[in-house]
Amino acid sequence: MNAVAAAAAPLVLRAEGVVKTYGEGEAQVHALRGVDFDLREGELVVLLGASGSGKSTLLNILGGLDVPTGGRVFYRDVELTHADESALTRYRREHVGFVFQFFNLLPTLTLADNIGLPCLLAGLPEAEVEARTRALASRVGITHRLSHYPQQVSGGEMQRAAIARALVHRPALLVADEPTGNLDSANGATVISLLAELNRELGVTILLATHAADVAAAAHRTIHMRDGQMVDAPAGMPV
Ligand SMILES: Nc1ncnc2c1ncn2[C@@H]1O[C@H](COP(=O)(O)OP(=O)(O)O)[C@@H](O)[C@H]1O
Ligand SMILES: [Mg+2]
Repeated sequence: MNAVAAAAAPLVLRAEGVVKTYGEGEAQVHALRGVDFDLREGELVVLLGASGSGKSTLLNILGGLDVPTGGRVFYRDVELTHADESALTRYRREHVGFVFQFFNLLPTLTLADNIGLPCLLAGLPEAEVEARTRALASRVGITHRLSHYPQQVSGGEMQRAAIARALVHRPALLVADEPTGNLDSANGATVISLLAELNRELGVTILLATHAADVAAAAHRTIHMRDGQMVDAPAGMPV
């Protein structure tokens, strides 16, 4: 998506002055110190920053897994910062897919069952869940692994299954927190190109956090984070 198209696309997420503080008094940690951020439909945005810069905290708040200490967050026209727990749960289930560094697959389920689980829990008919699972597994290249358990497949395959699981309920937004953090560089590169392809093919909006600068090559926009704030890329500074 080029800059002109991105500017015209509807807003998916908006953060206004988002603050997150952990702890009290001397032990206080300022994880986010006032973040303003817009994410538009169809974008693939990378948050790039060192460990501890606040990336996960921000993703968790935007994905409805956590609430900020201050500021406001909107998903389309809905203010998440005023939503109650059940509305936040519905937001996560219906609109967001999550991909994590450690895959978070259930070890006692096959890859097929891991992928289909969110839709089964949402009450979709079994045949529909199976059809969606097969189509996504084929798209991410793990059809031959569907009856395997997570511990029987490679890290790259686990992450591809996790991506399929994150998309099976057809969310508008995919949030990926260090999706290559536990992969070697070849598998990491495969996962990033796959996410970029899915962004283009399905139109799913992607917000991805990483400390690895090379991952940013796939992004429409890269936002640098440092000490709980979004900053302009400091010339020559490691991030
Ligand atoms: N649950 C928590 N309790 C206390 N401090 C936390 C908690 N979660 C994160 N932090 C702190 O907030 C800061 C930002 O963390 P995080 O968002 O995980 O950064 P990143 O994902 O960029 O590594 C760090 O200083 C971290 O130690
Ligand atoms: Mg993190």
